[in-house]
Amino acid sequence: MANPLFATKSYKVLLDEMAGEHRLRRVLGPVALTSLGVGAIIGTGIFVLTGIAAHDKTGPALMLSFVVSGVACIFAALCYAEFAAMVPVAGSAYTYAYATLGEMFAWIIGWDLLLEYAVASSTVAHGWSKYFQNFLDQLGVHLPHALTNAPFDFDPHTGRLALTGTWFDVPAIVITLIITAVLVIGIKESAGFNAFMVIFKLLIVLFVIAVGAFYVDPKNWVPFAPYGLSGLSFFGKTVVGQHGLAGEPLGMLAGAAIIFFAYIGFDSVSTHAEEAKNPRRDVPIGIIVSLVLCTVLYIAVAAVITGMVPYDKINIDAPVADAFAQAGLPWARFLISLGAITGITSVLLVMMLSQARVLLAMARDGLLPIGFFGAVHERFRTPHKATMLTGAFVATVAALVPLRVLADLVNIGTLLAFVIVCAAVLIMRRTNPDAPRPFRVPYSPLVPILGIGSCLLLMFSLPSENWLRLLIWLLIGFVIYFFYGRHHSVLAKQTAHEIGRHGLSPAGTLANHTTRPPDDGE
Ligand code: ALA
Repeated sequence: MANPLFATKSYKVLLDEMAGEHRLRRVLGPVALTSLGVGAIIGTGIFVLTGIAAHDKTGPALMLSFVVSGVACIFAALCYAEFAAMVPVAGSAYTYAYATLGEMFAWIIGWDLLLEYAVASSTVAHGWSKYFQNFLDQLGVHLPHALTNAPFDFDPHTGRLALTGTWFDVPAIVITLIITAVLVIGIKESAGFNAFMVIFKLLIVLFVIAVGAFYVDPKNWVPFAPYGLSGLSFFGKTVVGQHGLAGEPLGMLAGAAIIFFAYIGFDSVSTHAEEAKNPRRDVPIGIIVSLVLCTVLYIAVAAVITGMVPYDKINIDAPVADAFAQAGLPWARFLISLGAITGITSVLLVMMLSQARVLLAMARDGLLPIGFFGAVHERFRTPHKATMLTGAFVATVAALVPLRVLADLVNIGTLLAFVIVCAAVLIMRRTNPDAPRPFRVPYSPLVPILGIGSCLLLMFSLPSENWLRLLIWLLIGFVIYFFYGRHHSVLAKQTAHEIGRHGLSPAGTLANHTTRPPDDGE
C-alpha cells in the first residue's frame, strides 16, 4: 500500500487550488516583482558579511567567492523559475516539494524555509542594528552598551562562543516590530514602500562602486588569496585548504559559503507568485533579473572594498561605510550608513512577507493550524496572524542570538532548500513530462545537477557544527509533523475519503490518479 507520508499533490490539484477562493490579490507586475527580488537580496550580506568574510576567510579573493556563490544561485534560480511559472502558488519550494517528493519532504522543506526566511530575518535585523548604531555614532549618539548586541558571540581568536557583556540587541527588536506592523497593513502598500527603498539602495551601491573605484590601491589585492582558494570540510574534518582555530574551513570557497547569504532572497519572488498579475511570465523575469543584477554589483563592490582597505584592516561590523571613513570621506560614510539602513529594511520587509506566505500555504494543506496561520484579514487581505507570530519569533531570535551564528545556520538551511528544488525539477520532468512549462530550465538535466552539486559544495564549506544544528532543527520539524501535520493533512484526508469510496487504486494514492495535466485530454 502506498505510504501517505510520500503522497504527492498532483499538478491538477495545484491548478485547482490556484483557481480557488481566498487567494491573495493579484497586484504585482514584472518591475514590482524584480524590485521585490532586489529588495530581498541586497542587504546584510553585502553591507556586513563582506567584512567578516574578507577579514577572516578570504582576503581579496572575496571577489571570486561572489562569483562561485552567484553561479550556484543562478543554477538554483533557473530551477525556481521553471517551477514558479508552472505552479504560481504562494508556497514556493514547499509547494514544489509537495508536488514531487511527497508530503513529508514538503513539510521538511517548509520547516527548512523557516530557517531561510524567519531566521534570515533575525540575521538581517542584526545587520540593520549594526549600521543604525554606526549612523547614531556619527551623530554623536551612543546607545547603552547592554542594549547593542546579543549576549554571546563567536570569537575567532579563541574559536569559541564567548559572552559579549551585552543583554540584547534592542535596535533589531524595534525594526522588526515596525516592519511587522507595515506588513499587516498590506502588500500593495508594502510594495510601494519597498520600491522606494530599493531605488535608494541601488543608488548607494552604484555610488560605492563608482566613487570607491577612485580610492582603490591595487597593492591591497596582493596577496590575492591569503587563506587559499579552497576551504572544504567534511563533518568537521578539513579536506582541502586551511582551517581556523575551531577547525572551521578557511579560503575562497569557505568565504563563498558565508557570503551566499548575500544572494538569499531571489527565491522569495516565487512566494509572491500568487500576487503576480501574470505569474507565468513575470515571476521567472523577477527571479532571474534580480539575481543577475545583484551578482554583477556584488563582484564590483567586493573588488572596490578589498581594493580600498587591506583585507586585515577591513571592519567587520560596517565594512562598506568604514572603508570610506578610512579613505577620509566621512560624508560618504554617512550616506552609505543611511543607504545600508534603508536597504536592509527592505530585505527584512520581503523576508518576513515571504515567511507569512509559506506558513499560509502550509496551513491551507492542513500541516499547520488553518484557523491561525490561514487567517486572512477581512479588510487588509493579509495573513495578519501568521505575520504577527513571525514578527514575534524574528524579534526574539534577533535579540538573543548573534549574527555570525545565525547567518551560517540560514545558509545551510537555504542551500538544502535549493538542492531540493533542483532535484524536484528533475523529478517533475519525469512525472509530468507534458505539463505546460512557460519557462524551462535550459540544458536540463545538466543545470539542475550542477545546481545540486554546487549547493552541496557550499554546504560542506560551512563550519561543521551547522550540520548538527540543521539536523536538530529538522528533527524538531519531524516531531511536529508526526504529532500534528500527519493527522490534519488535507491531502491525507482526501486520499482516505477517495479510498473509502472507490477502493485503493493499483497506483495507491489520489495523487497518482491525477498526475497528468488537466488539459491533455484525459
Ligand atoms: N540577501 C539578504 C541580505 O544580504 C538576505 O541581507
